[in-house]
Amino acid sequence: MNPWQKHVDDIMGKVLFDQQTLQRRVQELGRQITADYQDADCDELVMIGILRGSVPFMADLIRVIDLPVTIDFMAMSSYAHGTRTSGSVRILKDINDAITDKHVLVVEDIIDTGLTLKCLTELLEARKPRSLHICTLLDKPSRRLTEIPVRYRGFEIPDEFVVGYGLDFAGHYRHLPYVGVLKPEAYA
Ligand code: IMP
Ligand code: MG
Repeated sequence: MNPWQKHVDDIMGKVLFDQQTLQRRVQELGRQITADYQDADCDELVMIGILRGSVPFMADLIRVIDLPVTIDFMAMSSYAHGTRTSGSVRILKDINDAITDKHVLVVEDIIDTGLTLKCLTELLEARKPRSLHICTLLDKPSRRLTEIPVRYRGFEIPDEFVVGYGLDFAGHYRHLPYVGVLKPEAYA
């Protein structure tokens, strides 16, 4: 067996969402987003992916939205290494283009405490977009420390540390095509 594959077998607990389940849900979200923004007569939807976790989700999602879409990226830091938030949020990379008067949809991998998105949405609101909404693949509502209005959510999950399809542990496992729970001994 390929050593990487053996490693993944060793550290991975159960698979929460396999590739097919993810694709199906992403398609549903794409249809819903398309319908909602069509109703809003949207002539441009600016989708802002939060680096790096949103990359696989964002790449799949933009391809099932039938609207004029432009994309931009932003990077924040809230986690150093490990599985718990540090509480301090910094901007590592800002978006390239202005969003004043634009319809903006922020795309995130997961909302945990909500601190990252709280800070980010306040910052983006100050630039006076025409609308600003959040789309997250995963949501851990039980961990929320601050209220965040989420318009689009792929799945709600319990308080377990997950990896894959963009989600990392210490930078790894983002490229796995499914979302799985890491065995606790893998990060103990
Ligand atoms: P928040 O500010 O606590 O909402 O943290 C959001 C960020 O924490 C996400 O963008 C992820 O990078 C990271 N995160 C939270 N929960 C998990 C998880 O279960 N697996 C991997 N990353 C996570
Ligand atoms: Mg992360």
